[in-house]
Amino acid sequence: MDFPCLRLGLLLPLVAALDFSYHHQERMEEFLKTVAQSYSSITHLHSIGKSVEGRNLWVLVVGRFPKTHRVGIPEFKYVANMHGDETVGRELLLHLIDYLVTNDGKDPDITNLISSTRIHIMPSMNPDGFEAVKKPDCYYSNGRENRNNYDLNRNFPDAFVLNDVSRQPETVAVMQWLKTETFVLSANLHGGALVASYPFDNGVQATGTLFSRSLTPDDDVFQYLAYTYASRNINMKKGDQCKNKVKFPNGITNGYSWYPIQGGMQDYNYIWAQCFEITLELSCCKYPREEKLPSFWNSNKASLIEYMKQVHLGVKGQVFDQNGNPLPNVIVEVQDRKHICPYKTNKFGEYYLLLLPGSYIINVTVPGYDPYFTEVFIPKKSQNFSALTKDIRLPFQGQLNSIQVSNLSCPTIPLYRDLPGHSAATKPSLFLFLVTLLHIFFK
Ligand SMILES: *[C@@H]1O[C@H](CO)[C@@H](O)[C@H](O)[C@H]1NC(C)=O
Ligand SMILES: *[C@@H]1O[C@H](CO)[C@@H](O)[C@H](O)[C@H]1NC(C)=O
Ligand SMILES: *[C@@H]1O[C@H](CO)[C@@H](O)[C@H](O)[C@H]1NC(C)=O
Ligand SMILES: [Zn+2]
Repeated sequence: MDFPCLRLGLLLPLVAALDFSYHHQERMEEFLKTVAQSYSSITHLHSIGKSVEGRNLWVLVVGRFPKTHRVGIPEFKYVANMHGDETVGRELLLHLIDYLVTNDGKDPDITNLISSTRIHIMPSMNPDGFEAVKKPDCYYSNGRENRNNYDLNRNFPDAFVLNDVSRQPETVAVMQWLKTETFVLSANLHGGALVASYPFDNGVQATGTLFSRSLTPDDDVFQYLAYTYASRNINMKKGDQCKNKVKFPNGITNGYSWYPIQGGMQDYNYIWAQCFEITLELSCCKYPREEKLPSFWNSNKASLIEYMKQVHLGVKGQVFDQNGNPLPNVIVEVQDRKHICPYKTNKFGEYYLLLLPGSYIINVTVPGYDPYFTEVFIPKKSQNFSALTKDIRLPFQGQLNSIQVSNLSCPTIPLYRDLPGHSAATKPSLFLFLVTLLHIFFK
């Protein structure tokens, strides 16, 4: 006997229905809620706030323990569609969610990734902008900005200049969200070009602006991260596939070298949230017709997955006092890689340092005490869904756990006020001039 209806019902997982079309807010919510219900043991859906027009800013978390952080499991995130008219990333992240949940327990790579990583996926940071664009259009349209006409990728505090703009609800929601988790690695997805761009987006002479670039002390890691993405995307890797007349060797670029911006999200993540973020430009056309979506998924799938695995680069661990109590707010940094705002252990005493293979001296400093130095050797091919684990027990006498740790906030903004001056707008660049004149912004 055959029961076709019954068979269909049993064999078709609910989510397999995700199609290659644009999912407006209502359908996107429906999809996310279905996933959260169907895969409740590995997903957690929550909204981190609301847009100007009151739409939820959804984040779907995928992981073995999706609701809470576990010591040793790094937090990763993807954010798309912060420019509402750059739409490819939004759909790619929905397909990524579908791919992750349907391959858990089937594909060993995906299963290991979900077991070792907590993955936060935000398909749209600017849902109002997306809804404001009426139909596909390859070039700039008004949906780029949020409902109050603010470009969200110019709306964050800036380390180098006073970015005195009205902080928008979408930006505030992301800033608050960054405080709730120790994010280690991130990417934000854009369109209008085809390149992986890494910090800084703004800078001063001390970061290299006289040479038309602005580099972080982790430049080797950032180039590697950007190349990890770009090299697995055939068109991005070529570096010249869009008609923007800019060539990107290997499909990667320093953000400032391309064109400086103030108040960008990737610099904010790196400087204030201890999170390495890069900016991915995924399509020459900002809002392509939906027939193109399958090919974008095919050309980005391997990159999206391989990039997530990079959250396991380098070294991680906990810092304890001599009695074995975890110590929060301890500065843990590699010597000669000091961050503008020192990277500190979280409330579990954890640190995560993204590093390429090699030998490093780690400087562990409890405020008010002499620094403690320890050496790490990060081997090649150490990456097996875990960074090298190195816990650090500080050899201090006394009750370190009871010590009042001073509030180590960042210095006042702009952080580089006393360094040689700089104004992004005066950078003599024909490209920047054209960008401004023609209103062809990407990132
Ligand atoms: C170690 O880190 C502390 C805190 O950031 C810093 O004050 C000190 O200069 C560092 N020492 C060395 C040798 O890098
Ligand atoms: C790598 O990870 C897999 C899966 O988690 C595990 O079975 C294997 O033992 C690990 N190998 C090493 C060398 O740690
Ligand atoms: C540290 O920050 C907390 C919360 O922001 C505040 O209540 C406390 O007074 C601060 N302590 C110092 C020493 O500034
Ligand atoms: Zn953009």
